[in-house]
Amino acid sequence: MSALHVQGHVYLIGAGPGDPDLLTVRALRLIEQAEVVVHDRLVSPEIMALVPEGAQRIDVGKAPDHHPFPQANINALLVSLASRGSKVVRLKGGDPYMFGRGSEEVAELRTAGISYTVVPGITSAQGIASATGVPLTHRGLATGVRFVTGHCRAGHELDLAWAGLADPETTLAVYMGRGHAAEIAARLIGAGLPADMPAMLVVDGTRASEEQHFTTLDHLGEVAAGLDAKRPVLMMIGQVVTLADALAVREAAALERVGHG
Ligand SMILES: C[S@@+](CC[C@H](N)C(=O)[O-])C[C@H]1O[C@@H](n2cnc3c(N)ncnc32)[C@H](O)[C@@H]1O
Repeated sequence: MSALHVQGHVYLIGAGPGDPDLLTVRALRLIEQAEVVVHDRLVSPEIMALVPEGAQRIDVGKAPDHHPFPQANINALLVSLASRGSKVVRLKGGDPYMFGRGSEEVAELRTAGISYTVVPGITSAQGIASATGVPLTHRGLATGVRFVTGHCRAGHELDLAWAGLADPETTLAVYMGRGHAAEIAARLIGAGLPADMPAMLVVDGTRASEEQHFTTLDHLGEVAAGLDAKRPVLMMIGQVVTLADALAVREAAALERVGHG
């Protein structure tokens, strides 16, 4: 390799839950200057619309239970693009370090000697907390919050520390849990959480298509079963859900649309 070889760089950017207004200033600046964008399924069309027209777009999106582009190939793609001198924008939904496998991509880049920058994004639980009026913590209702994955490999049992999770003063933000909602609820109730603990399922959080569903733990599975498996769903379980002010939020959003219209 000649000393003049131009090394590329990978920007691992969190695109947030969908609303482009929730991008960080740094993320927006880098997206608007992008030449090559490698993006996931969860990056919203509104955010992809900010990518310059001439930029190369590579969709490595994974649908649930369908992995057209294995993680190893994504890692190899990033290394190969950057080795050719490209400045690569790697766009991921939410925050790259929250159930996003961002750390695996960073490990590969480090091994290959590729320089990189990680730009944080608003994770879906945070965006959804603001969109629904459900705080992640609240004095007297939740002293802490746990971010939990409800996903497990096909044919494997969900292996979570249920006793530790079943704390009535901890908010649970469950990512990728729609398909296992009934089992998650049963395990939490079995570990001591009350069956009438408030729960919320939010589909397409912070997007124009957002749906909010309110229920209790014992009905979580039924509500989840009625949701579209192709759209992202975040489940929040805990007493803080009682603070949701869905009506006020919808009115505020409608007023904002009129104001912008
Ligand atoms: C692979 S994880 C990626 C999480 C992402 N890195 C983050 O910080 O939000 C995908 C899961 O995140 C949740 N999720 C991401 N965006 C969402 C959204 N806009 N609305 C609801 N859930 C979302 C869903 O549970 C989805 O199955």
